[in-house]
Amino acid sequence: MSPDAVRLVEVGPRDGLQNEAGVVPLAAKVALIDALSAAGLPVIEAGAFVAPGRVPQMADSAAVLAAIHRRAGVRYPVLVPNLKGLKAATEAVGVDDIAVFAAASETFSKKNINCSIAESLERLAEVAARAKDRGIAVRGYVSCVLGCPYEGAVAIDRVVEVAAALAAMGCHEISLGDTIGVGTPRRAREMVQAVAGAVPVQRLAAHFHDTYGQALANILAVLEIGVTTFDCSVAGLGGCPYAPGASGNVATEDVVYMLDGMGIASGVDLEKLRLAGLALCQTLGRPPASRAARALAAR
Ligand code: HMG
Ligand code: MG
Repeated sequence: MSPDAVRLVEVGPRDGLQNEAGVVPLAAKVALIDALSAAGLPVIEAGAFVAPGRVPQMADSAAVLAAIHRRAGVRYPVLVPNLKGLKAATEAVGVDDIAVFAAASETFSKKNINCSIAESLERLAEVAARAKDRGIAVRGYVSCVLGCPYEGAVAIDRVVEVAAALAAMGCHEISLGDTIGVGTPRRAREMVQAVAGAVPVQRLAAHFHDTYGQALANILAVLEIGVTTFDCSVAGLGGCPYAPGASGNVATEDVVYMLDGMGIASGVDLEKLRLAGLALCQTLGRPPASRAARALAAR
């Protein structure tokens, strides 16, 4: 059973660019985000208000948000790890949408945000409550849902617990992150089915990195059991600075090509999307990681 339409959350400007070795110029980030909204992406994660010493690539997020052309109906969430980040995000022009992030692995939590899972959930509950008071929508991420770069296997029960905690603190949507792209379809489906026992499947999003080339297969596996929101990254940009060896998210072009072929609407114009990715890749000096983008360019 497949849906008629899905919602794509473009995370390239955040999850993608946070992992670039060099600094991507502000103008290139802004041009990318504006090209993505023009291509029809309804949600574009535009930056992160995290410690600049930890992720310098996101240090100009306030300037990015101030410079983009906000298209009506498009949402531009940003990552927020703590109250300091919430304050900075709300002081930046027009942030009305944030994403908080926790992990299902203790070691990853320590490495990524320097605290235990329990501490992070306490901290994030406060962030979510303050955000709610200000009418800001909060999305929640769970990292390492199908494996951890430090601990290996991750128990599905742990994923369920963390997802349920994020939902209970008011996150409207929970994005399940295969941070290092180790998952395969049957396991991805088991994990989503287990989480759907605690959080309605309509509120779940799938966030697959493509390290082992499994992301599209995983998307199809969970699409068939009711997930209709998928995170993806134009040109397959990205990774995570605290997940050594992880490659980018599934490429948005590859997802749109698959959806178009299956007759599932996403509202995204594949050619405009391809050109958005290409322009950024020209700035980065390398070809897009998207297979569909490469094939379309060769036609
Ligand atoms: P901490 O390391 O515990 O240290 O921070 P701290 O709280 O003592 O702060 C250290 C310094 O950072 C201090 O400055 C703070 O003021 C400052 P100093 O006194 O040294 O000058 N600081 C901040 N500055 C700006 N904005 C802030 C902020 N907070 C503290 N919000 C913290 C904890 C979480 C902030 C830090 O560890 C951090 O920023 N980590 C980076 C996390 C990150 O961005 N990771 C990548 C994104 S997550 C991801 O990619 C996974 C995902 O894609 C899903 C998936 O794939 O699974 C979402
Ligand atoms: Mg990610």
